[in-house]
Amino acid sequence: MPEVLNDKLELDDIQSGVLRPRPAPYVATYIALRIDDRKAGRALMRRASQVVTSAANPTSPLADTWVSVALTHQGLKALGVPEQSRASLAWEFRQGMAARASELGDTGESSPENWEKPLGSEDVHVVLVAVSRDEQHLEAALDRARKMYQQMEGITAIWRQNCHAPPNEKEPFGFRDGISHPAIEGSGVPGSNPQEQPLKAGEFVLGYRDELGGIQKTEPEVLGRNGTYLVFRKLHQRVAEFRRYLKTNSTHDQDEELLAAKMMGRWRSGAPLALCPFHDNPELGADSQRNNDFLFQADDPLGLKTPGGSHARRCNPRDSAIAGVARLHRMIRRGTAYGPILPEGVMEDDGADRGLMFAFVGAYPLSLFNLSGSTMESSLGQQVTKIRFLARAISISRCRAARFVSGCKASPGLSLRVAVNTALCPDCERCAGLLILKVRLRVSS
Ligand code: HEM
Repeated sequence: MPEVLNDKLELDDIQSGVLRPRPAPYVATYIALRIDDRKAGRALMRRASQVVTSAANPTSPLADTWVSVALTHQGLKALGVPEQSRASLAWEFRQGMAARASELGDTGESSPENWEKPLGSEDVHVVLVAVSRDEQHLEAALDRARKMYQQMEGITAIWRQNCHAPPNEKEPFGFRDGISHPAIEGSGVPGSNPQEQPLKAGEFVLGYRDELGGIQKTEPEVLGRNGTYLVFRKLHQRVAEFRRYLKTNSTHDQDEELLAAKMMGRWRSGAPLALCPFHDNPELGADSQRNNDFLFQADDPLGLKTPGGSHARRCNPRDSAIAGVARLHRMIRRGTAYGPILPEGVMEDDGADRGLMFAFVGAYPLSLFNLSGSTMESSLGQQVTKIRFLARAISISRCRAARFVSGCKASPGLSLRVAVNTALCPDCERCAGLLILKVRLRVSS
């Protein structure tokens, strides 16, 4: 297979769910499958290729109904993908999220033993996602998808989650969601921020040049090329607790909305604090031409309008001065909401399960996560982000990549690439347990 050296995306080999925005409003179903028989698993993959929608033909009437398929590391094992090939995949993917719980902040109540079964277990091999604009189209997509695995011995459906868009595209806390998306070179899908330069496709799809000029490859190349990594989590939201938090920490009713906006970086309508810092502007919030048309650095470098620790700014600092490079941490968000809406004004938990099915796409899963961390739990401010980054730089300087780090101290402002793509650093015992798949730093003066 020829090496991809140009940036023309092979759209017909990329899943639609990776590049195409999901329909709005939407309905979605996630199904987890276990492969008990290798032959059946391989037959399933062959059938999947007939059912999965590609990113080509975005204007086709079927384009806003997708069926996507993702495999876990255990799934690749069940299919018999050799160890040598699996070893060429991202280390954090191979480990799985449950094994990395403490690093991800999944501790205490959120620790893996409390996760909904079988999520996070070795039984989940394949995740099938169907998303459409309405129930009728979803059912048609699911019918096609079910043919893949029903009545196939050796394949068992072990979990299912239905999702639907709450009114006005809001997530369960009541904020308009699905606004900000990166532009990806060659995808034909425009980004939502007209001021953002499109990102190199290699940040999101394997086999293409990334923002640093590198191309992420697997062994054999065909295993990963045109594929990507999907971070898939079920996030339960405590809506009543969030409402009580806002009330307890506000003097007046209107302060509650301001506090909520400061935590999110946007008013609940979707209007960004960057463009309307003092009052909500629902018209702006609903206007997709304007509601993401802003940067931070020139107008609000200190975060006086949009706090550095607000969810949206922390997850995408745009052009703000941070101890990292925001463009190396972008992600495609494909989350969908699940569960019933807690009626307006209710302050006590009704026991219902509601939240987000979090499905984020990116070629560098570790850097996506380490930038944002457990973002909704913390609004501690920009310092936190900086400290995390500095801590990471220190851990690098301990290992054999130290020479790169000292090099950058000598040349402040230099953009550096420190790729530690090997297994554990053999030169230093202190960083044992800390594998850095690919660390990319920009050190500014
Ligand atoms: C239950 C948990 C979460 C909720 C309720 C939530 C909600 C939201 C909302 C309402 C927005 C603003 C709308 C938009 O820009 O589309 C947003 C933006 C965003 N969120 Fe989350 N989110 C959650 C978890 C996460 C997590 C865990 C991450 C990353 C690890 C994340 C990453 C992002 C990013 C990258 C943006 C776009 C920021 C921008 O470009 O301005 N979110 N989220």
